[in-house]
Amino acid sequence: MRISIGAGIAIAIFLSGAALAADGEAIYRTNCASCHGPNGQGSPAAPAIQGNKFVLESSDRAIAGVIRNGREGAAKLYKDLPMGMPAQKLTDEELNAIVEYTRKLSYTTGPK
Ligand code: HEC
Repeated sequence: MRISIGAGIAIAIFLSGAALAADGEAIYRTNCASCHGPNGQGSPAAPAIQGNKFVLESSDRAIAGVIRNGREGAAKLYKDLPMGMPAQKLTDEELNAIVEYTRKLSYTTGPK
């Protein structure tokens, strides 16, 4: 009896954790794909995330910084792009999830 209650509590904690965990891919589709492309292939508005040098060479913290603060005005690196990147309003948990997903996309060279 005691064991099954313990198992029930463990399952409940596991399920609530899964429900709370932010989904990086879903966040990407909602917040990033319109500029960076559905597969991270880039667009006339934003650089590709696939094979992105900055993402491949930067710490999670630096990547999170660009996503949270955006990169506009004098900070812009891609002078040929018409706009900068606007700051993204995300919770810490969403930010962690999207950094992880951004990193995953940077390793791909998938469909354009
Ligand atoms: C309105 C369009 C737009 C949206 C939405 C957008 N970005 Fe960007 N992003 C840009 C532009 C433009 C740049 C390049 C800015 C520059 O000139 O340095 C950029 C730069 C970046 C960089 C740095 C890339 C590099 O090569 O230096 C990362 C990482 C990034 N974006 C990730 C994201 C993520 C993740 C999201 C969603 C949470 C997102 N962006 C949403 C337009 C956008």
